[in-house]
Amino acid sequence: MIDLKNWYDGHLYAKFLDPSEKTLRSMVVERIAPETTVLDAACGTGSLVFELAERCGQVTGIDLSAKMIRYAELQKEKDRIQNARFVQGDLAGMSEPEQPGFDYVTAVLLFHEIPSPMRPVIMSRLKKQGRTLILADFRAPLPLNVDGLFNRIIEMSGGREHYRMLRSFLREGGLPGLVQMCGLTIRGAACDRTGNFIVLEVR
Ligand SMILES: C[S@@+](CC[C@H](N)C(=O)[O-])C[C@H]1O[C@@H](n2cnc3c(N)ncnc32)[C@H](O)[C@@H]1O
Repeated sequence: MIDLKNWYDGHLYAKFLDPSEKTLRSMVVERIAPETTVLDAACGTGSLVFELAERCGQVTGIDLSAKMIRYAELQKEKDRIQNARFVQGDLAGMSEPEQPGFDYVTAVLLFHEIPSPMRPVIMSRLKKQGRTLILADFRAPLPLNVDGLFNRIIEMSGGREHYRMLRSFLREGGLPGLVQMCGLTIRGAACDRTGNFIVLEVR
């Protein structure tokens, strides 16, 4: 059987999806104080890591996909970026430090890709890594406007299981529902112009 899972990781993601997330990335970047340390969880091609590296002290990106990490490493070498590093790994298996090692943890478009029972597990792991979480993902309910339809089509192209996870994420209230379930506090929230995405600052 053809495996549609993550077929677009790496170069294709960088060419076709990264540009469409520019606004979302800037909504995240503007919430991060300069000269701080950041862990970008599920960093993908590293696009947010590179933007943050321009204003932050040290930025670390972690992602499950070897293809994504390979792409990010090549970009880092090409652009000679000194204060970024990339790690391939599963967020669910991350060790839990006694003290948060980062000022911020960012997670953009991660949670809609995680199976429902694992979402609180990963959220609690991320919370142990950083003092403040900046989370961004699809807004629940996802609007039925042009952007909403485009986003649904993109998500369907990831395969049936991928789309099922998005639907369960939205049904369970998206990021605000998850944050509330984990007993964390929302300190700030913003939506993009299309109403498709939400950014939360969480403590
Ligand atoms: C939709 S992409 C978003 C990538 C990037 N944050 C962005 O905004 O472009 C979701 C990413 O989550 C990663 N991912 C999914 N599950 C993961 C896990 N358990 N641990 C680490 N990364 C994971 C995928 O490999 C993929 O790169």
